[in-house]
Amino acid sequence: MSDAAALPALRQRAAHLDTTDDLAKLRDRFALPEGLVYLDGNSLGALPAGVAAVTADVVHRQWGELLIRSWDESNWWTAPERIGDKLSPLIGAAPGQTVVGDSTSVNLFKALVGAARLAPPGRTRMLVDANTFPTDGYIAASAARMTGLRVVPVDPATAAEEMDEDTAVVLLNHVDYRTGRLHDLPALTRAARATGAITVWDLCHSAGALPVGLDEHQVDLAVGCTYKYLNGGPGSPAYLYIAARHQAAFDSPLPGWNGHAEPFAMTPGYTPADGAVRGRVGTPDILSMLALEAALDAWDGVSVEQVRAKSLALTDFFLECVAAYVPEGKVQAVTPAEHAHRGSQVSLRAENAAEIMRELIARGVVGDFRAPDVLRFGFTPLYVGFADVERAARTLGHVFG
Ligand SMILES: Cc1ncc(COP(=O)(O)O)c(C=O)c1O
Repeated sequence: MSDAAALPALRQRAAHLDTTDDLAKLRDRFALPEGLVYLDGNSLGALPAGVAAVTADVVHRQWGELLIRSWDESNWWTAPERIGDKLSPLIGAAPGQTVVGDSTSVNLFKALVGAARLAPPGRTRMLVDANTFPTDGYIAASAARMTGLRVVPVDPATAAEEMDEDTAVVLLNHVDYRTGRLHDLPALTRAARATGAITVWDLCHSAGALPVGLDEHQVDLAVGCTYKYLNGGPGSPAYLYIAARHQAAFDSPLPGWNGHAEPFAMTPGYTPADGAVRGRVGTPDILSMLALEAALDAWDGVSVEQVRAKSLALTDFFLECVAAYVPEGKVQAVTPAEHAHRGSQVSLRAENAAEIMRELIARGVVGDFRAPDVLRFGFTPLYVGFADVERAARTLGHVFG
């Protein structure tokens, strides 16, 4: 039931939580419009303050003045692996295993076909998260067709039971984009490894929001985007992680000249480069790639563990405020209450969700809507505070009248 008495108390709590929050000052590293509550960083992250100046330098000096020399002198050529290494700590990867470039969809294709080629021969099944973001399902179907595998849709919660000696590849999302459910990457990866299957994890909704631990948990391959919690900008390049132990055998289905051992030898035959560099394809999109590099400076001195602790505090507080402010029965949380199963978003099921989100946005609280009936609120601990959370829930209560 909506509780008017809760209002000042929750506002006070929010103010106190913001005062004692070690990460609160990081909001200054972002250029957010005054007065806006931005809870859509799980779709498009906010603009880090340093990006505009770096981008202007890349355009005016590096491109405008140095022109072709910048491939060497401005270190453009090595940007994909350099920036891959820069974001690696956020996904628990040692250097040399991550390259940046292309979209998540394209990297998923490389990873899935590459995984099928790494898997023990003779296996026939590719297990695919049944609730996956659509592109993963589309790409998986094509990759399976090309490699002679059969897609088997699985619920990640019970996927371990489906893994067997006939499973070649397992594709799972770390956090479900619609519900915000966090899946058990360590246990699922362990189960897959026990059968010899190759794991491919989609980290789009977890990287930058919570610890991933790719090396620690012996993940084989992973992909993710950089425009959500990593704040790389609209359409910023994605990344591909190839565990060191698989690199020598990783056989990319897109062997472009940038992944060649000697790209400028211009030989007719393909010899893959050593390391994760073989995951590169064509000429990197330098403008957005260098914007991403600058965006990652927002993480200086910040650990993903600190971010996770604040993220859970924010989502706990949001759920509490929603319970206090929103009339009973109007919304139903679909994001798990248990921390072990919660990503960095809260999804609420509601009637007329699209209309409600439009109204919320008109009142300065930006989340998003996912069909058919889900209100999604993403919490990026680098720039979202507790007062934002309280105001968002209060505004939601007002929208319901
Ligand atoms: C879980 C997940 N996978 C894949 C994608 C698609 O990524 P891209 O458009 O970079 O191919 C998204 C986009 O939001 C996503 O949320």
